[in-house]
Amino acid sequence: MKSVQINEFGEPDVLTVVEATRPEIRDDDEILVHVRASGVNFFEVLMRRDQYAVTPSLPATFGVEIAGTLEAAGRNTGIPVGSRVAVPLFAIGRDGGYAEYVVVKGAAAVPLPEAVSFEAAVALQVQGLTALHAVRQTSPNGKSVLITAAGGGVGTLLIQLAKQAGAKRIVALAGSDEKLRTAVSQGADLAFNYRSGGWSAKCRAAAGDAGFDIVYDFVGGSQTSSFVEMLTQTGVLLFGALGRFALDIPSMNKLLADGQTVKGFALLPLLQAGAVRHDLTELFQLTAAGRLTPVIGGRFPLQNTADAHRFVETRQSTGKVILVP
Ligand SMILES: NC(=O)c1ccc[n+]([C@@H]2O[C@H](COP(=O)([O-])OP(=O)(O)OC[C@H]3O[C@@H](n4cnc5c(N)ncnc54)[C@H](OP(=O)(O)O)[C@@H]3O)[C@@H](O)[C@H]2O)c1
Repeated sequence: MKSVQINEFGEPDVLTVVEATRPEIRDDDEILVHVRASGVNFFEVLMRRDQYAVTPSLPATFGVEIAGTLEAAGRNTGIPVGSRVAVPLFAIGRDGGYAEYVVVKGAAAVPLPEAVSFEAAVALQVQGLTALHAVRQTSPNGKSVLITAAGGGVGTLLIQLAKQAGAKRIVALAGSDEKLRTAVSQGADLAFNYRSGGWSAKCRAAAGDAGFDIVYDFVGGSQTSSFVEMLTQTGVLLFGALGRFALDIPSMNKLLADGQTVKGFALLPLLQAGAVRHDLTELFQLTAAGRLTPVIGGRFPLQNTADAHRFVETRQSTGKVILVP
């Protein structure tokens, strides 16, 4: 089978397609999944460059979220061959999703309704659960909110879920006109390009005198400090850009003086075994009912995984980027 390996850190070309032995079930509680879609995540781009909080040991096969069909199933799994499943590999500390076949414990698989495509099922895993937990942790009900990287995988789902949760006003920030259009099509009331001049003044004006009740910032970097200025006096900055924290001292002082809040957000510690299945099932049901629509912004054959990474890294992608067989 084909799988994508990295043997050294560096540019996208280090992602090498190799012919590997197809994995086999060894225990009665295991399943063999024929992967129909797997997800590319921004953190994998950072990992490939060895710029992430965690350095993977090499050689490695990235990929923490897959969806596909059961090719074979151990007798204790109770899952029929041919079933459609989603497997959030990250929830069991696994990777290896950039491949044609994956063996996992049957307990890791979440049934996938016919009405939800393999691609959507992948988009709903890391990004969907992140958006769901962000909204649960810091409810936007009745609030004015600002969302960064709003045209991306997390951003597009966060806009939809924030709107459903009763956000009063959603202002989106993104890095291209196409992403701004995407953000507005998902429900943002206003969208500004933070790679063009004057975005910060436009945001302040959009926030009004009071400011934003919540800023959901999953990007981080130098712009994060300016969001503190835009918060209401009791506002919350929900910060989910691991390793890219950049609050300067004046902003920290302002937060302390005004009694505003910065909340760190990390998905992994929130993932309890039973809860992942429950939460993914909820996201699948919302999608099947037409109440949530994952945006698939790019499909790349596994063979062209390097191009998929280039696409994300050069900030061209909207929504979720998927690898297909
Ligand atoms: N805390 C957690 O548990 C958690 C979980 C999932 C994701 N995340 C974070 O949430 C963010 C969004 O994740 P995603 O998977 O949905 O990715 P994504 O939004 O689909 O893609 C990444 C986006 O980040 C923005 N960006 C900012 N600086 C960038 C740079 N130097 N290079 C490339 N892109 C840059 C780009 O949007 P613009 O051009 O619009 O700025 C890009 O489209 C990422 O920072 C990710 O690490 C955190």
